[in-house]
Amino acid sequence: MAANKKLLFLPGDGIGPEVMRQVRRVIDWMDRKRKITFDVSEGLVGGAAIDAHGVPLSDATLAEALAVDAVMLGAVGGPKWDNPTDYTKRPEAGLLTLRKELGLFANLRPAVVFDALVDASTLKADVIRGLDILIVRELTGGVYFGEPRGITEIGDGERRGVNTQVYTTSEIRRVARVAFELARKRGNKLCSMEKANVMESGLLWRQEVTKLHGEEFQDVELSHMYADNGAMQLLKNPKQFDVIVTDNLFGDILSDEAAMMTGSLGMLPSASLGAPDANGNRKALYEPVHGSAPDIAGRDLANPCATLLSFAMCLRYSFNLDEDAKLIERAIQNVLGGGMRTSDIMAPGMARCSTTVMGDSILREL
Ligand code: NAI
Ligand code: MG
Repeated sequence: MAANKKLLFLPGDGIGPEVMRQVRRVIDWMDRKRKITFDVSEGLVGGAAIDAHGVPLSDATLAEALAVDAVMLGAVGGPKWDNPTDYTKRPEAGLLTLRKELGLFANLRPAVVFDALVDASTLKADVIRGLDILIVRELTGGVYFGEPRGITEIGDGERRGVNTQVYTTSEIRRVARVAFELARKRGNKLCSMEKANVMESGLLWRQEVTKLHGEEFQDVELSHMYADNGAMQLLKNPKQFDVIVTDNLFGDILSDEAAMMTGSLGMLPSASLGAPDANGNRKALYEPVHGSAPDIAGRDLANPCATLLSFAMCLRYSFNLDEDAKLIERAIQNVLGGGMRTSDIMAPGMARCSTTVMGDSILREL
């Protein structure tokens, strides 16, 4: 066990540094009140790194990211750095490089409905009240990466666009294992989604998940669902699920669908996990789902909850500090219950508060 809990902060661009500042305050609180100390270093990513070094992620920052226990990222991007000709010089390339180099194959996207925000959803309150599900999306394989890919001329003025859905048994098993282990710590229920009815990669997915279940996870209740039915069931009766595991493409869509049942982008956290090392520690990156929000950047308007909830995931999954994660989640729940609202989660009759005041309130509640 490493003596210190090492964290790398990459605030990034736009509202990234504003929301990450609130995480700093919670870290200070943990140090003072919980006697849990983090060794925090800070680096540049995205546009901020392009301005300083000409690249969206320097080798030194990447080396640092590989050395720490977990990376906390704000957001990257903005109109200033839009580069239509050189993709490698865009801010997003920094984030993609991080994900790839850290080998982050499992993307965890919770969809949790906070009591105070039940009315912010477009779904009926009784369908989503108390919702707490977790989607595990495979992040480094599948149709976004499979070969062959590309656009080719096939004669007579026709062109053909190709992407290939590819999964190997080990890619399926490692993400399924993460999902089974998470299910064990939650409601002990896992639903695997693919389209085994029309895709061989989906059939292999189903076979491997079933096999792994039989070998190691028989205590977890496993079900399978075709992803299109899954999309319908999520809207019809989302509370039937606990943990969902699915591939990169379906996970991209289903996690966005599930997220929107809960209200605002400003409330959505995420975690991305890699393979465990010999000590069982995984490389990990935690970040809000939202981007750098250039339209509100620099005005102390951003909702810091998504980033604070990402930090709670970091405590839970990288440091086994479940109790502290729950304290943060409950503090946010209570502050929202008290009527505190940033502009993105405003409701009639409520006063709008700033990023800083939201942070103040959460710290006071803690
Ligand atoms: P965005 O998520 O930055 O913003 C979408 C809308 O939601 C905006 O109106 C914004 O004001 C609002 N919003 C987002 N987060 C909020 C928060 N915490 N509190 C209150 N309101 C919030 O997505 P958009 O506008 O498509 O992209 C802006 C930039 O961010 C682009 O450069 C894009 O490439 C980048 N981006 C980066 C991501 C990342 O770092 N992981 C993810 C998505 C976009
Ligand atoms: Mg998406």
